[in-house]
Amino acid sequence: MFNEGMAGSARITAQALANGAAEAFDGVRTVVDVGGGLGTVAREISRAFPWITCTVFDLPYVVKGCLETDGVNFLAGDMFAFVPRADAVLLMRILHDWGDEKALDVLRRCKEAIDQEKGKLIIVEIVVNEDELKDDEMHHARLASDILMMAYGGKERTEKEWRNLLLQAGFTRCNITRIMALQHVIEARP
Ligand SMILES: C[S@@+](CC[C@H](N)C(=O)[O-])C[C@H]1O[C@@H](n2cnc3c(N)ncnc32)[C@H](O)[C@@H]1O
Repeated sequence: MFNEGMAGSARITAQALANGAAEAFDGVRTVVDVGGGLGTVAREISRAFPWITCTVFDLPYVVKGCLETDGVNFLAGDMFAFVPRADAVLLMRILHDWGDEKALDVLRRCKEAIDQEKGKLIIVEIVVNEDELKDDEMHHARLASDILMMAYGGKERTEKEWRNLLLQAGFTRCNITRIMALQHVIEARP
């Protein structure tokens, strides 16, 4: 039920990602979607950017029974131990599940999985607005998500917190794009 619930909301965010941050996929031929669940986002990437081969990497019980379709493969594993190599690693709604220490473990595995010159990390996560801009109608929804994540040991992060975390994991270049979703797109390179 959880995986199907995630897939439902992933559909909306995946379209916002493909429409609002298409440049993030320029020159990318392979993507590994770490914690990609049932493959909803991978299928949208494959549809929007047909030259990309996408691998969904998730826990064995999640990917068991998932059917490989054009451009989307499934691989079982543990992101804390290993992340498969690709031109780009995608982490959508993964790091907010974890505190900084565990998030850093995942980020370091992701850094090992990409080319240190040309590889990139594409994070799709909430960026909490520190200024509490009144004109941002999604601000309160982002804070509500923060409370939910804190109940399970995770948290939403501000731009400053994202930049610090990425720097600690060895990502020196970082670019944040706003899309039509609760989440932003954070591109990071070693
Ligand atoms: C919040 S869901 C996000 C799913 C998808 N990325 C999305 O945005 O719809 C977190 C995902 O991380 C996966 N996951 C949790 N621990 C993992 C691990 N150690 N290795 C690989 N995947 C893991 C879960 O099975 C789940 O599919």
